[in-house]
Amino acid sequence: MKSQMKNIVIFDTTLRDGEQSPGASMNIAEKLQIARHLDRMKVDVIEAGFPIASQGDFEAVRAVAAGMEYSAVCGLARARKKDIQRCWDAVKDAKKPRIHTFLATSPIHRKAKLKMSKAEVLKETVKAVEFASSLCNDVEFSAEDATRTEIDFLKEVVSAAAEAGAKTINIPDTVGYTMPSEFKNIIREVVDVLPGGITVSIHCHNDLGMASANSLVAVQSGATQVECTVNGIGERAGNASMEEIVMSLVTRKDIFNKTVSINTTQIYPASSLVSRLSGLSIQKNKAIVGENAFRHEAGIHQHGVLQDKLTYEIMTPESIGKKEEALVLGKHSGKHAIIERLKGLGIDTKKINMEELFVSFKELADKKKEIYDDELLTLADEQLGAVNKIYEIDYIHTVSGTNTVPSATVRLKINKNDKVEIKEEAAIGDGPVDACYRAIGKLIGRNFILADYRIKAISKGGDSMGEVTVRLKEDDASEEIHGRGASTDIIEASALAYVAAVNRLMILKKQREQA
Ligand code: KIV
Ligand code: ZN
Repeated sequence: MKSQMKNIVIFDTTLRDGEQSPGASMNIAEKLQIARHLDRMKVDVIEAGFPIASQGDFEAVRAVAAGMEYSAVCGLARARKKDIQRCWDAVKDAKKPRIHTFLATSPIHRKAKLKMSKAEVLKETVKAVEFASSLCNDVEFSAEDATRTEIDFLKEVVSAAAEAGAKTINIPDTVGYTMPSEFKNIIREVVDVLPGGITVSIHCHNDLGMASANSLVAVQSGATQVECTVNGIGERAGNASMEEIVMSLVTRKDIFNKTVSINTTQIYPASSLVSRLSGLSIQKNKAIVGENAFRHEAGIHQHGVLQDKLTYEIMTPESIGKKEEALVLGKHSGKHAIIERLKGLGIDTKKINMEELFVSFKELADKKKEIYDDELLTLADEQLGAVNKIYEIDYIHTVSGTNTVPSATVRLKINKNDKVEIKEEAAIGDGPVDACYRAIGKLIGRNFILADYRIKAISKGGDSMGEVTVRLKEDDASEEIHGRGASTDIIEASALAYVAAVNRLMILKKQREQA
């Protein structure tokens, strides 16, 4: 007999665990932009951050909580009263608030990190869940490092958490250690020990490349919530990737017999958005959303696909919202066409000043024939406030070439305390980009370490836009902050990326200093 079809709750932690990827810190406007997209694509739960971590995190969770229509909004809290209270203060205005509290249960974490006995872990779990439940009627408890925990103790802790009021019990494979055959049994035991109304959730990391496989066997063992991130970003090797989980459940419904509420046609736009705003590029052969995921190179494959796509395609690009647009955008395009394209790319056009975007669009269209989606999205980012403009490039002039000392003159608009100051500096460097960066360094009064510099064409043809992504560090020990810039002139794109990273750093620092 077929098992009953159940909905799988998709819990997205891109803004919390995903943001813990090195160099992926995002500001509030950026997080809100991603959250709105997740809400529109009908993610069931959005974990928006770790409110006790900083004032910036708190504000971001609060902003997301207040802005979601469909998704429940959750904050993370250690199993401490102060964390839990702070978390509740951040999520309480959500239509559907959730507190997610956690405590490690494995022997190594108990001994080395918590310095707690089993009895103490048990007691603290109950205390935390009871307190969280006194504030919020949707509480999730996670047994951190569950997969390296003695199974009997794990069952004891999760049973106590459920009895104390947790509605969702999450079993994280915190260090990506478990294997599908083992995880399947762990989840079965947990499902069997818990009362019927409790949602069993899983949260898998990808250290051994098993995150999606482990998540899916857990579903087959009775887990009904999957925690994941867009593009699989997250701590170390990342988390289970949302697109892999969702498209596996959808494509192999014959095996899983489960439904998801996700609008899969928003997957590809979500992936592009997260990649752009987190500064983490997607490997070309990444399952589902990689550039090559639907490309057929071998002659034999091409021949097959031309006869019938199903010979080598198990899902369509359209099903994830990846489509070749019939309409080319260019200088003759009207506002309506631009709005429709942006909507198709998952952008909430009501949040955009379309008049301003249209002006920038026309300026770009004057420089090149076709405007591609990534270029349009870059313009939309600016309108959505994801680009913070303390410093703005006003003018650049560079000189370089054979037997020439590369030099740059840069003029910046500096927007501070409601005043705009214009400053200009010149510098020489190892190349025109280096010279630009040195001139900018003089203008802002400091130099950063350029930890990474990448350039790619974001559209086709000789008039394509170059996109530069840089990662800057204040010193060797500090975190990397990314910035992106796009222009038909790659020196300008490089300068824009540098200034974007500096602006992002300034805003993040300000948010953190307020903590
Ligand atoms: O990986 C982990 O254990 C976590 C928990 C806090 C859920 O992220
Ligand atoms: Zn995690």
